[in-house]
Amino acid sequence: MGGGKNKPELIVGGKRTDGRAMDELRPIKIQVGILKNAEGSAYLEWGNNKVLAAVYGPKEAQPKHIANPDRAIIKCRYQMAPFSSLEEHSRSGPNRRAIEISKVTKEVFENVIMLDNFPGSEIDIFVEVLQSDGGTRAAGITAAAVAVASSGIPMRDIPYAVSAGKAGEEIILDLNKIEDNYSEADMPIAVAPRNNDILLLQMDGSLTSEQIRKATDMVIKAGETITKLQREALEARYS
Ligand code: CDP
Repeated sequence: MGGGKNKPELIVGGKRTDGRAMDELRPIKIQVGILKNAEGSAYLEWGNNKVLAAVYGPKEAQPKHIANPDRAIIKCRYQMAPFSSLEEHSRSGPNRRAIEISKVTKEVFENVIMLDNFPGSEIDIFVEVLQSDGGTRAAGITAAAVAVASSGIPMRDIPYAVSAGKAGEEIILDLNKIEDNYSEADMPIAVAPRNNDILLLQMDGSLTSEQIRKATDMVIKAGETITKLQREALEARYS
């Protein structure tokens, strides 16, 4: 979200800055199993975002005092490569934003992975953003879901994430960076598609309850496409 004097027009002649319709996803491509050493991995391109997800474990939780004798714990690290955007410079260590995105990503997977099956262990999920153009947390969650599924770690469902927001009077799906920066609202949502359980809902800006309903409906409809692409990528790897 942004604003200021030089706010660009996000919708001109009923089209968005990149020519999309209001409820149109950017093109998504997913490839499974590209990292030899990881238990599960996925590479995802989503518009101009490029994201790599890797999963390790379950393995004995380290250090020992963090282990939970009843279930596995999840560690998650989201990180933007220093060359992933014009804004991100090669500072060392995670910044506040990366810590926040790592935390919400971890919470998504805590709600779908069958943690009870692996007492005392840890599962590590890494999301590396190689190129960014808005919506990288959604792309990261969507990629990590495929990576976890490909690792064989049992999940109740394969989640996906995408954001919806508001530009002018329009509700729009899957905001790119310029839309993310200048929209009135941006709402990333992660969903478990089987029951449409909402696993993550964040909001930058404000929407009325009617607008939230419309945005959520758009997300769930787009979820059919995203879920299909996730499943096709997994099938392509294992068929
Ligand atoms: O990526 P996502 O939309 O989940 O997160 P955001 O914090 O809303 O950031 C929107 C976009 O701004 C990112 O996708 C990046 O393209 C860019 N950004 C960046 O380049 N460097 C940062 N430190 C933060 C954001």
